[in-house]
Amino acid sequence: MTKKIKLFDPSIDQSEEKAIIKVLQSKFWASGSGTGNVKIFENKFKKYVGSTDCVAVNSGTSALNLALSLMDIKNKEVIVPSLTFVSTIHAIKLNGGKPIFVDVDEKNLCIDAEQITQSITDKTKVILPVHFGGMPCDLSKIKKICKDYDLTRIEDAAHASGSTYKNQKIGKHSSAVCFSFHPVKNLAMPTGGLISLNGKSSKKFKKILESRRWCGITNRHDSFYDVQEMGWNYYMNEFSAAIGIIQLKKLDKLNIKRKKIAKLYSKKINLEQKMIFDENCSYHLYWIRVKNRNQFRKKMNQIGIETGIHYRPVHTFSMYKTNSHLPVTEKVGNEIVSIPIHPNLSNDQIYKIIDAVNEFS
Ligand SMILES: Cc1ncc(COP(=O)(O)O)c(C=O)c1O
Repeated sequence: MTKKIKLFDPSIDQSEEKAIIKVLQSKFWASGSGTGNVKIFENKFKKYVGSTDCVAVNSGTSALNLALSLMDIKNKEVIVPSLTFVSTIHAIKLNGGKPIFVDVDEKNLCIDAEQITQSITDKTKVILPVHFGGMPCDLSKIKKICKDYDLTRIEDAAHASGSTYKNQKIGKHSSAVCFSFHPVKNLAMPTGGLISLNGKSSKKFKKILESRRWCGITNRHDSFYDVQEMGWNYYMNEFSAAIGIIQLKKLDKLNIKRKKIAKLYSKKINLEQKMIFDENCSYHLYWIRVKNRNQFRKKMNQIGIETGIHYRPVHTFSMYKTNSHLPVTEKVGNEIVSIPIHPNLSNDQIYKIIDAVNEFS
């Protein structure tokens, strides 16, 4: 029987195995103070993206929760796309803010920067763009809006490890940029996330975040410490960090493989509605749009090709139902399908996917 083609598949080799065993045997598996591999990973990631500081945490969700906690958004509005994973929006709610959904641009499925200003009110505090599938948002336009209206920008870069915008890595362009290192992501860990900080408040923010990621603990000397505010158990463990150090070394190489596949898909797939090719994109996802999605996915599955749906728009969930009318998001939400694009795909598998999409869509 031919092997199933997985939608996601982390790229690992013996280096990750060795690193895991080393941590296991050291018996130093985790520390709220973020020493050991966690610190090494933070420093390497900071150098990689060129940001001022980095704080590692245990997931992309925690990264978003903590980044938003810096901005005092209680009873304030945060402008965000609805086409995202639900934790982007939960993070706003958890911090007492109100998500204001703005439609996405049909070309790249990132927030439509042209439509942002009409949603700005005197309660707006933050714009939270999501680099969808790894495709960088129009940060120049969003930056200008933030400047004109005195708003803060926090990026959801869960899909964008290794993506670039204007020759600089994503992670360098906003006050806080939140990454996810969930096992399906381009930089994979068992679980992990990170906040990349830029600008004049970075040092201050880093200190606050380091305390909030570990139960509010601060001013620690030996076994003595103080707690001045609420914090969570959000710190990254040593196994994740050790794997992350190795994955980071390989990231650009792995992303080149993803880009090659994306280039082929964008040329050979005979669908009008599909992800465009852009060198700046890390291609965490490759999306296509098909009219008869259930039937299409069923047929793909029958010949051993996994597909996924990223995402059901958040404003259609019971918890977040609003009067928002987001025509592009809603249409895309009914048609979007993710097809495999990970670096472990063989040439034969890539062509099998292309042929199957062309036949079944
Ligand atoms: C756009 C987006 N934001 C945030 C997250 C949350 O990341 P994590 O699963 O690491 O908590 C994800 C994860 O899938 C995501 O896709």
